[in-house]
Amino acid sequence: MATKNNKTLRNSDISKTLGVSKQTPANWIKQTLNGNIDLILSTIKGKNYIVDSNHNWTIMNSLKNKGYKYISSDPVEITFDSSEQNVFSNQQIIQLYSSLSSKREIPYKFTYLSEGAELWDLHYGYGSQGDNAFIKKDAELINNNVVPLLGRIDDYENVNIFDIGCGNAQPVISIINALKARNIEVTYTAIDISKEMIDIAKSNVLESFPDIKFEQIVTDIDFFNISENIFKSNLNDSKSLNLLLYLGGTFSNQSDESRTYSNLRDSMAEDDLLIISGGINDFPTQNNVYKPNKYHLDRTLWIPRFLGLGDYFDPETIFNEYDPINKVINRFVEINADVALKFVILNSEKIINLKRGDKILILEYYIHTLTEVISSLEKNGFLPRQVITNKEGENALFLVQPRNLA
Ligand SMILES: C[S@@+](CC[C@H](N)C(=O)[O-])C[C@H]1O[C@@H](n2cnc3c(N)ncnc32)[C@H](O)[C@@H]1O
Repeated sequence: MATKNNKTLRNSDISKTLGVSKQTPANWIKQTLNGNIDLILSTIKGKNYIVDSNHNWTIMNSLKNKGYKYISSDPVEITFDSSEQNVFSNQQIIQLYSSLSSKREIPYKFTYLSEGAELWDLHYGYGSQGDNAFIKKDAELINNNVVPLLGRIDDYENVNIFDIGCGNAQPVISIINALKARNIEVTYTAIDISKEMIDIAKSNVLESFPDIKFEQIVTDIDFFNISENIFKSNLNDSKSLNLLLYLGGTFSNQSDESRTYSNLRDSMAEDDLLIISGGINDFPTQNNVYKPNKYHLDRTLWIPRFLGLGDYFDPETIFNEYDPINKVINRFVEINADVALKFVILNSEKIINLKRGDKILILEYYIHTLTEVISSLEKNGFLPRQVITNKEGENALFLVQPRNLA
């Protein structure tokens, strides 16, 4: 029922008083106008507000206790028209749509695109507390072990570095320094899914080494084989070595690490080297409400916000769930309204019906022990040459070469 000139309530106050999301009172107004609920509304300048009355508070309390059964019949409609953006390629939009539609998942790798690159860079430099302590230890391990790690490189005059998932390239600086100290000529190729991330890497590398030959490949390593680039780089040159890097625990976010490893394996010749670094069992595996730092939080949430879902989840309620069967920590955000999310892709329309309470997967972190990483590398055709861990046993470095399968 709609009336005029009564004391009205702000949706944010109702949400605070009743402990419901800010969207909930807006949905109750909608349901009242549709005749499903009997709240008293007041219309001011064409906008409807819930009146502050005992009648309304009784109804709202009861709606809250019933768990908002009415609302699911009338979803909020959101349209995401892919032609109006230039962040994702068509292939990526289709991947995003498919993951969200079939798995309720936003692929974590996409969080590094666009503004996510700067957020990763800020997160990286944020300090060594909480969830980025790991990345600091990873870089420290590389820094402290670069000399023994590169021991076998002395015979070469040129090293072509291919930095896969380069991030801001900070961990590579110590490696290039160590090579330069031995008068080895270095070519650096930054490879990343995110053009913006490569731009940051480029400025960091060129700042430290203004004369270095810098190359870049913007690609999704899940699908693209870099064999041609690697092959061409030291054609007929026995004094030149290809050194691939896959640093910073990128493997922990891979649901299909075998695909990446065999892709890398197939891109390499028998003399090429690969250094991998990452965490081994370093995250707590219990379920919990998760409090990431602000940069990490914003990076994992910019995509749902970009899609228009920003009003339909509460960032405070992000939580981790450990799946002991697949040994993965899944991080979710919960949708707090029924939402029909329409994707317009290549002139066709696809709707994803999200329900209140649906969990959207925003991050996967696979837990590996040292032995598991080694056995996975061996299974995918690599021969581990050297393995170094830090004293806490939380981070590891693996120097591997393709195993001769002939
Ligand atoms: C955890 S960060 C590591 C960055 C850097 N290697 C370091 O050690 O600090 C992961 C990086 O890999 C990139 N990445 C993730 N998945 C990728 C994929 N499928 N293809 C290419 N790059 C990817 C991200 O954009 C990001 O820059």
